Amino acid sequence: MWTRYMILILSYLITEMWMERQHLSLRDVEPGADLTRNHTLREGTRFKRVVFEGQYCRNFGCCEARDDDCVTQFYEAKALCYCDAFCERENSDCCPDYKSFCREEKEWPLHIKPWHPEGCHRDGQHYEEGSVIKENCNSCTCSGQQWKCSQHVCLVQPGLIEHINKGDYGWTAQNYSQFWGMTLEEGFRHRLGTLPPSPVLLSMHEVTASLPTTTDLPEFFVASYKWPGWTHGPLDQKNCAASWAFSTASVAADRIAIQSKGQYTANLSPQNLISCCAKKRHGCSSGSIDRAWWYLRKRGLVSHACYPLFKDQNATNNSCAMASRSDGRGKRHATKPCPNSIEKSNRIYQCSPPYRVSSEETEIMKEIIQNGPVQAIMQVHEDFFSYKTGIYRHVTSPSGESEKYQKLRTHAVKLTGWGTLRGASGRKEKFWIAANSWGKSWGENGYFRILRGVNESDIEKLIIAAWGQVTGADEP
Ligand SMILES: *[C@@H]1O[C@H](CO)[C@@H](O)[C@H](O)[C@H]1NC(C)=O
Ligand SMILES: *[C@@H]1O[C@H](CO)[C@@H](O)[C@H](O)[C@H]1NC(C)=O
Ligand SMILES: *[C@@H]1O[C@H](CO)[C@@H](O)[C@H](O)[C@H]1NC(C)=O
Ligand SMILES: *[C@@H]1O[C@H](CO)[C@@H](O)[C@H](O)[C@H]1NC(C)=O
Ligand SMILES: *[C@@H]1O[C@H](CO)[C@@H](O)[C@H](O)[C@H]1NC(C)=O
Repeated sequence: MWTRYMILILSYLITEMWMERQHLSLRDVEPGADLTRNHTLREGTRFKRVVFEGQYCRNFGCCEARDDDCVTQFYEAKALCYCDAFCERENSDCCPDYKSFCREEKEWPLHIKPWHPEGCHRDGQHYEEGSVIKENCNSCTCSGQQWKCSQHVCLVQPGLIEHINKGDYGWTAQNYSQFWGMTLEEGFRHRLGTLPPSPVLLSMHEVTASLPTTTDLPEFFVASYKWPGWTHGPLDQKNCAASWAFSTASVAADRIAIQSKGQYTANLSPQNLISCCAKKRHGCSSGSIDRAWWYLRKRGLVSHACYPLFKDQNATNNSCAMASRSDGRGKRHATKPCPNSIEKSNRIYQCSPPYRVSSEETEIMKEIIQNGPVQAIMQVHEDFFSYKTGIYRHVTSPSGESEKYQKLRTHAVKLTGWGTLRGASGRKEKFWIAANSWGKSWGENGYFRILRGVNESDIEKLIIAAWGQVTGADEP
């Protein structure tokens, strides 16, 4: 049996102990201060360690058998002392109250696992005072043996997800790892990014599609089935609040491909809009769709392949890398090569002025089936972020936090089709198919379905479309 390094001996033993320490200490003990003590040691009471005041094992707990972690700070000696059975010997490193508390007062419960009087615990781990950990979107600091956490509402709310998935709402929710750790405010601030439509936009005259009203509309329609290879799937805006740019570029690209009958099928560059259209501020902090359409008409965009998304939207050198000028014959040309070495074509694509489509469900359907996908403005609620599959309808959250972010809630998406399906409560429900810009891991491969014909989340409030400008010179 080994003897431990002895701490709590009387002063006249110090010299002996210093010699013993080198080979006897098998505990990984940091002896701390030297053994100059300044306590109320009584003369002549050689082994009466209990005269030390204070509670050690009483606070810490007692451990059966040898347990080198069963150690606590012995303040009076600026050292460590033990409360395990192994310390049970004369001249040992037991805490002063080991005998009185652990041996003689067995009615006290044994702490098999010692708890630490200092610091905090979480998931079986011990944290020092002042430690900071992240709990979803909140940070918690260990202070006074308790976790004190910030009180933000998080973008991922497990309670809300459970509520939706237990209910019969016609859609299911998912805990998205890309949203975990964000606050709800950050979600509204960085994942959407369309300014509320201006009065000018809202007072735009509605255009009705030229299809006769008697035309039968199919029960199910998907733009990519009618125009395979001519429509474009969802990109990922990440934390760049630029749905204004993503939705506009995507609708314009689809329509140019459809209108050119497949001659120009390139996807258009949202980064071109983000970096070049928003003059005064960076386009990742929201923008207006009027401005985006203005840019498509007046300046034009290059393809997404030519001007791809920047990995770091926060980089300071994200200045506009593309400009165009007119050739005097109604066509614009890029003045610089693509800002990447792979793509050579820096062709500029332009659109006609945008027009507003009626909010009538059948008018929207006619516009899509005849001319291609349209842009829709919607109001996002906090439950929408967790949409996974089904027909979305807003489910009220107990926190009702969305209301605080009224100014940040406008989002722009692309409507690409419609259908009907047995949804909530087994009822037959009509839906739109829409492309979001949160990547393909979100929703139904980047798309979502949403109730149709009831202005769900204002999805039918403002529908915008435009014609591709396929000039004479471009015609085959
Ligand atoms: C010992 O105690 C005295 C009086 O309480 C104090 O002045 C002195 O600084 C102490 N010495 C040490 C080494 O703590
Ligand atoms: C949600 O996802 C995050 C990250 O993927 C994970 O850490 C967390 O435990 C999940 N929460 C729930 C309630 O499933
Ligand atoms: C980008 O900058 C904004 C504002 O300075 C900041 O809130 C955000 O966290 C940054 N994003 C990244 C990915 O660094
Ligand atoms: C922007 O800066 C980063 C880091 O300094 C650099 O790696 C990158 O090449 C720069 N991009 C451009 C377009 O200059
Ligand atoms: C949709 O709802 C919004 C907000 O309630 C309203 O302003 C708008 O007029 C509605 N649009 C239609 C077509 O019902």
